[in-house]
Amino acid sequence: MLSKPMQEALNNQVKLEASSSQAYLAMASWSEIQPGLDGVAEFFFLQSEEERVHMLKLMRFINERGGFAIVPSLDQPIVTYKGIKSMFEEFLAHELKVSDSINDLVDLALKERDYATHNFLQWYVSEQIEEEKSARILNDKLELIGEDKSGLYLFDRDITATRQSGKKR
Ligand SMILES: [Fe+2]
Ligand SMILES: [Fe+2]
Repeated sequence: MLSKPMQEALNNQVKLEASSSQAYLAMASWSEIQPGLDGVAEFFFLQSEEERVHMLKLMRFINERGGFAIVPSLDQPIVTYKGIKSMFEEFLAHELKVSDSINDLVDLALKERDYATHNFLQWYVSEQIEEEKSARILNDKLELIGEDKSGLYLFDRDITATRQSGKKR
């Protein structure tokens, strides 16, 4: 059975995963209307779906443990970007924020000696390692590419492949 504070903290995480899904959906839509960023758009559509799965997994767990998962209201995410570089910086910043939040949840689970939740959260801990890693790799690549158009072409072409190979499920 979840404690009240634990239930509230997990519901906050539901909201954060839902916001991530919306933020990446906005990135997908913005990318889709830019010339030549079809790969990037595809990447963020998939990323958005994945965040929804993270949200659902949390909701099911909360309910299973005697809590009540609340569907959150959300603020509108950033819908336009100056460029691909600032968008990917935002992506990394967002993932780092999510990692901090997962770490706080793990902390709370340990403080409460809630080992079931602690165990459940380990999946998110590993997931964040992967998410941070791929976001960092993509930012490093963009740094290297700079303004080089052919580099950007290859970045867009290869991005969905990077996503699949970088991730073990
Ligand atoms: Fe997530
Ligand atoms: Fe994520």
